[in-house]
Amino acid sequence: MPNATVAARPETAFRLRAASPEDGEAIAALLREAFAPYDGKIQPRPGALSETGASIAAALENGAGSVAEAGGLLVGSVLWHPEGDGFYLGRLAVKPGWQRRGIARALVESAIEAARIARRAQVTLNVRILLPDNVAFFESLGFERAAARPHPGFDHPTYYVMVRRVD
Ligand SMILES: CC(C)(COP(=O)(O)OP(=O)(O)OC[C@H]1O[C@@H](n2cnc3c(N)ncnc32)[C@H](O)[C@@H]1OP(=O)(O)O)[C@@H](O)C(=O)NCCC(=O)NCCS
Repeated sequence: MPNATVAARPETAFRLRAASPEDGEAIAALLREAFAPYDGKIQPRPGALSETGASIAAALENGAGSVAEAGGLLVGSVLWHPEGDGFYLGRLAVKPGWQRRGIARALVESAIEAARIARRAQVTLNVRILLPDNVAFFESLGFERAAARPHPGFDHPTYYVMVRRVD
């Protein structure tokens, strides 16, 4: 059998659904796992590492998000909330072992589509300057660097504000 169905192999298949406050604990656990490699490596410490089930549930009460599921596991997340005339996107994570399969791309596209449906003008996010692979990833999805800013207490820029216009 030729391997033309590689993309549809069951072990690579995932599906997206809307996140709900009941997903809070699972999303917080996913964030801790996915962001763990940054712990002690980038300053300030990523806020994603301090999320709890309650804080994620609260974010989802006031905003929205998508999760990716595969093999009965929650393997990806992204959250967004209204900010100005757009959406602010955050808490994007894909479970180690499930990365580089297009899950983050699908999650970000779901946020862009939600912004389009809500007639929002843009999607904005912050990304660490120290994570150039992440910056390139967002650029590949049409985000542009709009500003470079310091976190509170830093004397040099530590993150880019990136913006994706929604047509
Ligand atoms: C960043 C992250 C969300 C990417 O998730 P992912 O599911 O692996 O991303 P995708 O498979 O959708 O990547 C799509 C494309 O982005 C680029 N890309 C993604 N991660 C990359 C990496 N580590 N290095 C280089 N390119 C990368 C590639 O072009 C990739 O396409 P390819 O695999 O065909 O080459 C994931 O690595 C993660 O959870 N990291 C830890 C938490 C984090 O940094 N979150 C984002 C904070 S801004």
